[in-house]
Amino acid sequence: MTNLVFLGPPGAGKGTFAGMLGNDFQLVHISTGDILRAEMKAGSPLGEQAKRYVESGGLVPDEIIADVVDVRLRADDVRTNGFILDGFPRTVRQAELLDDVLARHHWKLDAAVLFDTRRDLLLSRLTARRLCRGCGRMFNVLYGPPKKETVCDDCGEALYQRADDSKETALGRLDVYDQQTAPLIDFYERRGLLKRVDSGGTLDTVNALVRSVLSL
Ligand code: AP5
Repeated sequence: MTNLVFLGPPGAGKGTFAGMLGNDFQLVHISTGDILRAEMKAGSPLGEQAKRYVESGGLVPDEIIADVVDVRLRADDVRTNGFILDGFPRTVRQAELLDDVLARHHWKLDAAVLFDTRRDLLLSRLTARRLCRGCGRMFNVLYGPPKKETVCDDCGEALYQRADDSKETALGRLDVYDQQTAPLIDFYERRGLLKRVDSGGTLDTVNALVRSVLSL
């Protein structure tokens, strides 16, 4: 069983490579951003609570998001296969809460992979990202465009831009990362768990780097 945390600023590729690695190695990909967006779409109490933080680019309070992760980690698929946590933890407090959860299950973390690249590239990736309203597939109008500009290649539904991918909100999210999440780099480095990946290359290049730092 392999248990991983994927860290890094918005647009660094955490979701992209968690998806690829999860598929290739049967690890459960847990994206706190995806969970929150699904709750918002469903109009659940959690979604209502999260909406103002997510849409403005701020962070949902630590205890709320840690509970969400705790519940997800109890599922059978996680116990059997191991997990990739994408976008959690995002503060030192969340990392401490994750330690508590892992200790309760007698699990250990194998690595924290840090994806990072130049700010201008992060911003251009974020503002060019599009998602399918039907199947959720991700496209990028600059770096992986759909065949028809506004339509999903797979299911034909319309594509949309995440509310927090506007230039202004994306810049704010990068600041939030610097202030609240970047201290986790030290946190995991001190524990000997940090693996750095320069995620500025092509999909194939970065995919190879991830496998190499994880010896997969
Ligand atoms: P979340 O959904 O986690 O957003 P994020 O961390 O800001 O990350 P992104 O999804 O923007 O980027 P990514 O690194 O996954 O990049 P991706 O692979 O998509 O969180 C959203 C919000 O939810 C937060 O702001 C917060 O409000 C809340 N939240 C979530 N977790 C929380 C927590 N733990 N605590 C509190 N609040 C929380 O790639 C980006 C684009 O670039 C894509 O279009 C992709 O196709 C493209 N791309 C990526 N890599 C490459 C490459 N190598 N070559 C070409 N294109 C590439």
